[in-house]
Amino acid sequence: MVKKNRALKKTFQRGEKIFFCQCEQSQIYPFCDGSHQGTGKSPVSVTFTEETKVSLCQCGHSKEFPYCDNSHRAYRDGPKK
Ligand code: FES
Repeated sequence: MVKKNRALKKTFQRGEKIFFCQCEQSQIYPFCDGSHQGTGKSPVSVTFTEETKVSLCQCGHSKEFPYCDNSHRAYRDGPKK
């Protein structure tokens, strides 16, 4: 998995159902690529009911996953103590 310390801004259309990675094995993180098979974890699905602009977490530290909560700022130069 390639994590990035910044959010991915994305617009989803009404009716789109997206699966977000929870196993942290996906090569297209934060999206699920099916790598969770055998890990005991399942992706989180979100169905957008209207056109929605979001900032998606790519660092894996957000408490609001799959959405960015700016937690990445604490990890930009390594975890803060
Ligand atoms: S990218 Fe912003 S909290 Fe993860």
